[in-house]
Amino acid sequence: MLVNATHMLQSAEKGHYGLGAFNTNNLEWAQAILTAAEEEQSPLIVQCSMGAAKYQGGYNVVYNIVNTLVKNMNITVPVALHLDHGNYEACFEAMDAGFTSIMYDGSHEKSFDINVEHTKELVGIAHKKGISVEAEVGGIGGTEDGVTGMGEIADPKECKTIADLGVDFLACGIGNIHGLYPKNWKGLQFDVLGNIKKEVGDLPLVLHGGTGIPVDQVKRAISLGISKINVNTDLQVVFSAATKKYYEEKKDELEKGYDPRKVLKPGKEAIVVRTKELMEEFGSVGKGWE
Ligand code: 13P
Repeated sequence: MLVNATHMLQSAEKGHYGLGAFNTNNLEWAQAILTAAEEEQSPLIVQCSMGAAKYQGGYNVVYNIVNTLVKNMNITVPVALHLDHGNYEACFEAMDAGFTSIMYDGSHEKSFDINVEHTKELVGIAHKKGISVEAEVGGIGGTEDGVTGMGEIADPKECKTIADLGVDFLACGIGNIHGLYPKNWKGLQFDVLGNIKKEVGDLPLVLHGGTGIPVDQVKRAISLGISKINVNTDLQVVFSAATKKYYEEKKDELEKGYDPRKVLKPGKEAIVVRTKELMEEFGSVGKGWE
């Protein structure tokens, strides 16, 4: 059974470890991420963006894939299915489909007041259904699903305003960006993170753009109150590299090497390996039902 992400993130916040929230793109992705979580006995947040849900045929398709795999793979660790960067309408669609957690990304709204108004409404509705809510203050840089954020730095006072609406965890821009980091990236702004944490107390904080941040910075961010680390590009890169190798080694020309089950296998295995490494790095191994 899927659970919401509140308890697992509160445990991570108290225990000073991080939980990976891994984006799923298709059946193989979901299988691979779940395999890694079970083998590492780590709690897991499987998340899906609006674009990846559309690609897979809709939120109900994603829900049915993940929910059924949890049952059929006999997954024993807690798993939450989370909407990543949902707009206002997408939050309702994902909740209706059975998602157990949503992110309302109001950072692109015309004003902070609209972000506040929508977040408040969605918290009320989601909590009645037992669904957890992530909100965002300060856009995350980089491009995701065709939307390019400016990489704003979150205002700690605005974080406090949103935290007080009862959100379960909060994403805040601290110099992190989606996708691969440019060579001239200045690194995470730990002073801002420290100020935000002072304002929001024990509310778990979320680090988007988890791909390519040096391990020491990730660990420091976790020690300063980051509890959820979002990872998408990293797994796409390892999947792509393993698939490329398959063709470079001309494995497709061997007996039935063109069968998609054979073609996708190395990429899927690479996702399992990399997800397990990241779980080690974040410190969630063995945290199961803590
Ligand atoms: P990356 O693609 O940079 O790992 O970021 C993922 C993310 O933050 C999803 O919300």
